[in-house]
Parts: sequence; C-alpha cells; structure tokens
Amino acid sequence: MKKSVILSKEEISKQYKFMSDVKSITGGNKKVYIQTFGCQQNEADSERLLGMAEQMGYEKTADPKQADLILVNTCAVREHAELKALSITGGFKHCKEANPELIIGVCGCMVSQEHRINDIKKRYPYINFLLGTTLIHRLPETLYETLTQKKRIFRIDSDACVIAEDLPVKREPGKADAWVSVMYGCNNFCSYCIVPYVRGRERSREPEAVLSEIKALIKDGVKVITLLGQNVNSYSPAGRENYGFADLLSDICRLDGEAVISFMTSHPKDATERLIDVIAENPPKKNKVGIARRFHLPLQSGSDRILKAMNRHYDIERYLYLVDYMKKKIPDIAITSDIIVGFPTETEEEFLETLEILKRVRFDNVYSFIYSRRNGTPAAEMDGQIPEDIKGERLRRLLDVQTAIGKEKYLDSVGKTVRALVEDVSKTDGARLTARTETNRLIHFEGDASLIGDYAYFYVEKAEAHELFGRFIKKD
Ligand code: 5AD
Ligand code: SF4
Repeated sequence: MKKSVILSKEEISKQYKFMSDVKSITGGNKKVYIQTFGCQQNEADSERLLGMAEQMGYEKTADPKQADLILVNTCAVREHAELKALSITGGFKHCKEANPELIIGVCGCMVSQEHRINDIKKRYPYINFLLGTTLIHRLPETLYETLTQKKRIFRIDSDACVIAEDLPVKREPGKADAWVSVMYGCNNFCSYCIVPYVRGRERSREPEAVLSEIKALIKDGVKVITLLGQNVNSYSPAGRENYGFADLLSDICRLDGEAVISFMTSHPKDATERLIDVIAENPPKKNKVGIARRFHLPLQSGSDRILKAMNRHYDIERYLYLVDYMKKKIPDIAITSDIIVGFPTETEEEFLETLEILKRVRFDNVYSFIYSRRNGTPAAEMDGQIPEDIKGERLRRLLDVQTAIGKEKYLDSVGKTVRALVEDVSKTDGARLTARTETNRLIHFEGDASLIGDYAYFYVEKAEAHELFGRFIKKD
C-alpha cells in the first residue's frame, strides 16, 4: 500500500507560481462559475478550487453565461449524480459557442474513472481539461497549461496519496458553519462503492494542521464546524502511533472560544466506546468548544448476510451494541444512518430485517438509496441484481416506515425548551427565521434578523416529520 505524503513546500509554491502566472496571462478580472455535485467532501473541494481560482483573478459568478472559467465538480457514488453532471456539462456547450475563449474543466470523482474519461474525450470535445479528485491542488498548473499550450489536458491519478496543505480556501463570507477535512480517501472497499477507486488511499492530516485551521475559523466567528472524511473513525496521522480520532476531538474541545463540532462519516467497524465517551464528556456550552449531540452511523443493511456481501466487517449485534452504548451515554443523541435497498441478492426477508432495525433503533433521520451498479466494483459483477421496480418499491416502503418514526421522534420535542443556533431567514416562509438544535433539527420561529449567528432558547410548539416550529424565549 502506498504511503501518504504531505506535499512539500516547493510543490505548493510551484502551484502559487502558476497562480500568479495565470493572472498575468489573463490580466485578472475574470469570472468563474462552479457547479458542485455530491457529498460535503466535494463541497469542501469546491471551496479549495474557488480559493485557487480567486488567487488567479477569477471572481465567483452565479451565471455560467458570464463566466470565463466553468468548473464542474462531479460525484460518482450513484449513476443518477453522474448522468446529471453529464447533462449539465452538455448544456455548457452553448456557453462555449457564445464565447470560444471560455475554459471548461470537469473535476472530481466521475472523471477519475477510466470509462468516463474515454467517454468525455470522445463525446465532449469542448471540455478543456479533466482533473481527478486527488489532484485538485494542481488546478493552477492545469489552467496555465490550458492557456499556454492550447491543448486538452487529462490529469488523473486516482491512486495518489498526497495531502496538500496551505492552499487558499474560499468560504462564503459571514457563514456560521464550515467544513474541515481531517482525512482523505478510503481503504474499505465496500463491495458496492466506487469511492476507494476514485479518492485514493486513506491519508490523515496532521493534528496540528487541523487544530490551527479550526482555531482560525473560531476566531473568524464560525460557530458550527463539521469534520470531514470518508471514514473519520480511522483517522491516524503518520508517525503518531496512538493518536486517533477521539484524541483529535478531545484536543479540539480544549481550544478557546465557542463552537459546535460535528463529524462525518463514521464506519461502525471503527467506531469505539472511547469516541462515544469523548462526545458524552464534551457537550456544547456557552463559551466552550463542544461536540454536537448527533452521530451519523451508516448501517447500509439490517441483514448480516448482506453486510457480509457488502464487505462491511461488522454485524447487527455490534451495530446495536454501539447504538445502545451511545443512547446510554448521551441520552439526547440524534442518530442518523444511510441505507441501501436492493443490493444484489437481497431477499424480501432480508429487506424486512432492515425495516426491523429501523423500528428498533428509531433513527432521527435515514438517507436511503436505491443500489446503483458502479462499474469496476465487485457488487456490479454479482449475480442476482434486483429489478428496478422491486428496488423502487422497497425504497418507498422504507421511506414510509422512517417518515412515521421521524415524525414521532420530532413530536417528542413538543412542549420542551431547546437551545439552538439561529441560522437564517426561513427558506419556506420569509417572515420567519430558522435555528438549528445541537441534534441538527431545524426550528422555524418568528424573530428579529439581528439574532442570526446567536445561540438562543426556544419553546417547541409543533412538529412535522423533518422540522419543528417554536417560540423564541431568550438569547443564551
Ligand atoms: N449505490 C447506492 N448507494 C450507494 N452508496 C455508496 N455507494 C452506493 C451505490 N453503489 C451510499 C451509501 C453511503 C452513501 C454515502 O452513499 O449508503 O453510505
Ligand atoms: Fe464507500 Fe465503504 Fe469507503 Fe464509505 S466506507 S466511502 S461506503 S467504501
């Protein structure tokens, strides 16, 4: 297995040099449009792409027709996301016809797969460059070559193991929340999943780099920080034998200031009692850095046989043990999960086992997916692929069960007083504001916009399946 390497200062300064070269070639004052698909990790990657683009003189625009550079940051986890990215990219052909100087680059997980690269080479001649997920730090070099060599560039290395520190990041100004990657890649090779093939091997950032980034964010007034990684529970920085994710969380909670930390995604095979203890010991508090009362623990299936076929390395007994331990140590914890329905060979009985676990655990929320066959993964080759209509029907039944549970759980909050961070004006009702509780529940309430960014207490009056309605009591 390749060892992870933190890019040398020279390598990074090379990219900075390309940034200033690009700016002098174009003269600056350019515009970049970015379209992002997929997970939070991709959103975080887009912030880095935008950060580099900004240094090269490209200001962000919300209108692709105005852009001098269009970046499409793609996802490959399910076919649906790929088809959407391809169709949107297809639409940008008109922008190129209107402005032949326009540069179009497609980045991310979709273009880290051989068959897609060939497809794009042939069918999308107006795309200037492809940049694989593990190589996005080389955007400056790629843009420079595109501008100077007038040729198409395909820069892909899905096996890369590098960590790029100290590159610019463009976060939306004034936002109360931020993402911080703590590790990249995945070594698990769940049999349905494309991620290990496109995001390379697991590599963890040094704790010092993570801590100083978080310190700076807190100083800037960021109140909610989500630590990101495909499997944060296997965080293990190079050369630090006994330092794991629980240690990183404890160190973060010792920083000065006030913030709520959450993290995703966890793998049940690597989640430990110690990690749960650290969460229990560090609740969010005024003037403290604490950990959100929420835990995303993807189950994927309620059947031991299917979990084995998925190569997940835990069984239902272990999963339920972790859930019970969490509920015991952190009684107000909101547990959420991912479920895949219609994995090859899944029987009706095995699907019913999944529904039973949903009823037993009573998740706050479940992200459920129809199994999507991914080229190059072992599950794609398995006999016993489930017909689309059965997969669709299983998803609907699962959603019915979970919606009822979610509503009951949210109803539990009615009549209670909860602490929440006021986030924004409500998207569904401009006369109200929204706040988010430490368990990630959204509350709509009437209040003054000056409250945005403050913690406050609310009395919950009403609940729907995914939202609460409350009355503002007082600021914390
Ligand atoms: N089909 C459907 N869902 C998938 N996921 C990952 N790969 C696939 C696939 N091939 C889901 C898993 C994972 C989430 C991020 O996406 O549930 O936890
Ligand atoms: Fe995919 Fe499994 Fe890795 Fe998650 S842990 S990214 S599901 S291979």
